[in-house]
Amino acid sequence: MTRTLSKSVGITATGQFYPERIVNNQELALLVDTSDEWIISRTGIRERRWVEPGVGSSDLGVEALNMALNNRGIGADDLDAIIACTVTPDMLFPCTAALIQTKVGASKAFGFDLNAACSSFIFGLSTAASLVASGAYKRVAVVGCDVMTSIADKKDRNTLVLFGDGAGAVIVEEVEAGYGILDFEQRIDGRGAPYLYMPAGGSLKPATAETVAANQHCIHQNGKEVYKNAVRDMAEISRLMLDRNAIDPKDLKLFVPHQANNRIMEAAAKRLELPLDRMATNIELFANTTSATLPTALHQSLGAGKVQKGDYVVLAAFGAGFTWGGMLMKWAY
Ligand code: UT7
Repeated sequence: MTRTLSKSVGITATGQFYPERIVNNQELALLVDTSDEWIISRTGIRERRWVEPGVGSSDLGVEALNMALNNRGIGADDLDAIIACTVTPDMLFPCTAALIQTKVGASKAFGFDLNAACSSFIFGLSTAASLVASGAYKRVAVVGCDVMTSIADKKDRNTLVLFGDGAGAVIVEEVEAGYGILDFEQRIDGRGAPYLYMPAGGSLKPATAETVAANQHCIHQNGKEVYKNAVRDMAEISRLMLDRNAIDPKDLKLFVPHQANNRIMEAAAKRLELPLDRMATNIELFANTTSATLPTALHQSLGAGKVQKGDYVVLAAFGAGFTWGGMLMKWAY
């Protein structure tokens, strides 16, 4: 059974933003016991962007959203809602969507944050599409923005090298009949929680001097466990999208996987029997930007002319929770 929206709804514009500061692998090797060779061969990452102190996820999100609005040729007042997808909100509350709303001047919009870790953007996109398909809202912005350096352990080589800061944004609207989002599937399984999490800073373990001293406000990950689930689940959910819509993998124009590790992405593409030039990738220069990987990879692929109107595009994500999801689109513009 496909998940069909009651209207044709799709992405009508994209935007992105990265902070200026480039941090290459050699610079990280000054902070932790690692090497350029290890990071490139195990992850495909060469460099990433880091914010300067005092910059929050909303600041990156605002820039990405402004670019998407410009590309669509509309103003912030034309937005009915803003969904901010992030695991690194500026503050626990108010929501980052409120901060973005005020900074862009979207005076008629409501909004909220959505956190499903690295699957946040795909869950946010399906939520936005459902809001538009309901007929209650016309234009919804989905902003994936994360300052991963705010929760990175600068002493942990296992995780520090993997992440970067950035933001991507899309505008979601009704599109020409037969185009836009054709299908999606989303999953959550809390048995994966111990493998990728931030132990302190929430209601269970509020911040104390001890939790801070123990680096419990940082990312903790069992990389191997996440790796094998990510390959299997991103490949399976993408295959499901293609099979149940009777689309041959060779007719897929672009596969946009979550950018966590180039080996994970390539293994998933291989299981789909897709040539690697059909896979969107920006991990080499930007690392894993969590909620921003999918919209930025999509934005860059569009900029490179890799997608035209009518092309089939599949998004796939996997993240902490565990959460994962896939989405099939027939590109609308
Ligand atoms: O977006 C959220 C989802 N996250 C992911 O999808 C990440 C999934 N996992 C991965 O990408 C990979 O598991 C990693 C890149 C995190 C690790 O790669 P791996 O091939 O699975 O390496 P490993 O965990 O087996 O570690 C091998 C060795 C270990 O040393 P010992 O214990 O064998 O002596 C690590 O301590 O590599 C060591 N290591 C490093 N060495 C140099 C781990 N990180 C580094 C490092 N530099 N940065």
